[in-house]
Amino acid sequence: MATPRRGRRPLLLAAAALAIVALAAPTVLGVLGLLTVAESFVVTGLVALAGAVVALGAAVLLLRRSMLAVSQEVRTQTRKVTETLGRDRLETIRALDATRARVNRIQSHSLPTMTRKITGAIDRQGRHDYEQQVAWNELTRHLDTAPFMPPLRGWAASPDVLRVLVRHIDRLRPDLVVEFGSGASSVWMGYALRRAGGGRLVAVEHDARYAELSRALVASHGLDDIVEVRTAPLTGIEAVTVAVGDEQVSTADRWYDAAILDDLEGIGLVFVDGPPKATGRHARYPALPNLMPRCTEDVVFVLDDADRPDERAIGDRWLAEYPALHRTEEHAEKGAHVFSRKGV
Ligand SMILES: C[S@@+](CC[C@H](N)C(=O)[O-])C[C@H]1O[C@@H](n2cnc3c(N)ncnc32)[C@H](O)[C@@H]1O
Repeated sequence: MATPRRGRRPLLLAAAALAIVALAAPTVLGVLGLLTVAESFVVTGLVALAGAVVALGAAVLLLRRSMLAVSQEVRTQTRKVTETLGRDRLETIRALDATRARVNRIQSHSLPTMTRKITGAIDRQGRHDYEQQVAWNELTRHLDTAPFMPPLRGWAASPDVLRVLVRHIDRLRPDLVVEFGSGASSVWMGYALRRAGGGRLVAVEHDARYAELSRALVASHGLDDIVEVRTAPLTGIEAVTVAVGDEQVSTADRWYDAAILDDLEGIGLVFVDGPPKATGRHARYPALPNLMPRCTEDVVFVLDDADRPDERAIGDRWLAEYPALHRTEEHAEKGAHVFSRKGV
């Protein structure tokens, strides 16, 4: 815009100079006596009028050009705005389409799958809860327990595996029961032994703090004449590498200090519920080879958490190394495998 205005300046100066000359000319001609005063006035007036007409025409022309430029600019800007809006709308439509497709996928696939899974899990949980409630009721009725019993499930054994243990206590009437991993089960089995009319339980515990808690629990139920909680820290054992399917497993290199078992003979029932999984792979395997020589002919080993692949593999190893044993898989929420001699 600055350039045309600057270009127009000499033109305007020339026009102004011409106008001054044109306006001055009649006066000069009058002074020279070539025109009368009246004639020079008339001519000056005519020149001024002509100048005004020319200036007006030029102004109209300039105004028209400016308006053309403005309307051109408006058209250009309008086109740009339309293009930008068009592009944005296209992108918005694309994004909306993609979102709609995602929502459709979720509605038609993910949502039904998740709903099925959640419904299945709720169903299973409901069945487990009912079964554990039934087992709890049977246990409390059968064992004539104190009104407030140590809670089961979670870190503790579940009512269904305790029912398995109590049945074996009732049937075998063992003189000695050994449990690896003390806690609520020590109390429940104490009641079972009291009801069976004899026998004692040695609960082996690696954690001194929990051993103390378990002892206090046992004492609070007046069962310390039946249940003994022994603290046996985990000590080094030789780790071995075993094949589990295609996998090579390096087993745990710690187990309870076996010296704690030295005085135990005639064991009729073993509950294998420790050491904890975090100890290492096949952490509970040593229970059977260590105790077997100290057991009765009709001994029963109950392995808890047998739904875990590691516990199943431990059972497989026991069966491979003791062909006289067989395994019964009890229906229990965490899995409970029972090992006893065939035909006994
Ligand atoms: C799988 S739990 C089972 C213990 C026991 N057989 C039972 O069913 O109550 C194994 C370990 O839990 C730990 N434990 C004992 N009492 C506990 C408690 N009150 N809270 C959390 N852990 C406990 C002990 O170290 C025990 O060896």
